[in-house]
Amino acid sequence: MQKDNKITVFGGTGMLGGAITRQLSRNGYKNISTPSRANGFDLLNKSKIDEYLKAEKPEYIFMVAGLVGGIQANNSRQADFLYQNTLMILYLLESMKQFAPGAKLLYTGSTCIYPKENPQPISENRFMAGPLEETNKGYAVAKGTGIIACQLYRNQYGLNTIAAMPTNLYGPGDNYDLDSGHFIGAMIKKFHNAKTKGTELVFWGSGKPRREALYSEDCADACIYLMENYNSSEIINIGTGYDHSIKEYIEIAKKVFDYDGSISWDTTKPDGMFEKRTDITKLKSIMPDFSPRHFEEGLKEVLNIDFNSAY
Ligand SMILES: NC(=O)c1ccc[n+]([C@@H]2O[C@H](COP(=O)([O-])OP(=O)(O)OC[C@H]3O[C@@H](n4cnc5c(N)ncnc54)[C@H](OP(=O)(O)O)[C@@H]3O)[C@@H](O)[C@H]2O)c1
Repeated sequence: MQKDNKITVFGGTGMLGGAITRQLSRNGYKNISTPSRANGFDLLNKSKIDEYLKAEKPEYIFMVAGLVGGIQANNSRQADFLYQNTLMILYLLESMKQFAPGAKLLYTGSTCIYPKENPQPISENRFMAGPLEETNKGYAVAKGTGIIACQLYRNQYGLNTIAAMPTNLYGPGDNYDLDSGHFIGAMIKKFHNAKTKGTELVFWGSGKPRREALYSEDCADACIYLMENYNSSEIINIGTGYDHSIKEYIEIAKKVFDYDGSISWDTTKPDGMFEKRTDITKLKSIMPDFSPRHFEEGLKEVLNIDFNSAY
């Protein structure tokens, strides 16, 4: 990728897309465009995509737009997650075939679409290797379709597509809604509310399950590196390679928020999967310097940027 190449980030207003856009600028890329619904663009409208690609002729496309949410949003809106996420990538590939056949596309799946049960850590060969988790089936089928579509358009039409599988992300611009957000975003918001409004801190389950959390800027670095250096139809994980128990995340947050109030656990709520750790052997073989920051450091940055507070 040359510094003056035309780069489009679909989803540039989102958490990961925003991080990719900022990192591209920091790395000296000058020609970045981020079409979004706020300025009349819509990936659910194929003629808008056709018009855009015809006019812009991007050479590199980061496709990180999507309908994204935590377990509650995924579970209660399964049909929306299926419909929107499937259409966006299929319309884009179909349009690229006609109007930007020479562009390189990076598409993001997600490690949460791997089957429900997996040997740990989860390697790329677990894709489509077993029954899916019921609570995010719509999202998983859509993302799985997107990945396979990237491979099929590559094989049949020669489109230069790659697909990455990021783990759970957090970072500036995260969704902090307690109902629709992911675990880390919701946890940050709960601590923030407890500190600023004195609300009670209650977490679901036993706190024992182990989860991974990758800072969005580190994921963005990996996405850009893969765009620059990876060329294969095989998916590739982007994770930290290590995890913490939910209780450990909460201990780190307590320290960063300087919170000494009480915390209770609603053990009537389910724990979910005990462990979900990503195998990043393949990523490290391509990007040996990849070294994502520790959660404590990432959390401090998020608080400074999104909450204007260091606590
Ligand atoms: N968050 C995670 O933990 C996580 C983990 C693994 C993988 N991923 C994947 O990473 C990608 C980015 O996730 P994120 O958390 O950054 O999502 P996000 O913050 O919710 O951002 C979603 C982006 O998609 C755009 N978008 C949604 N519908 C659109 C439409 N119809 N037309 C055009 N743009 C549309 C939104 O733009 P508007 O400004 O127009 O709303 C926004 O920029 C997704 O593919 C997601 O599946 C995320």
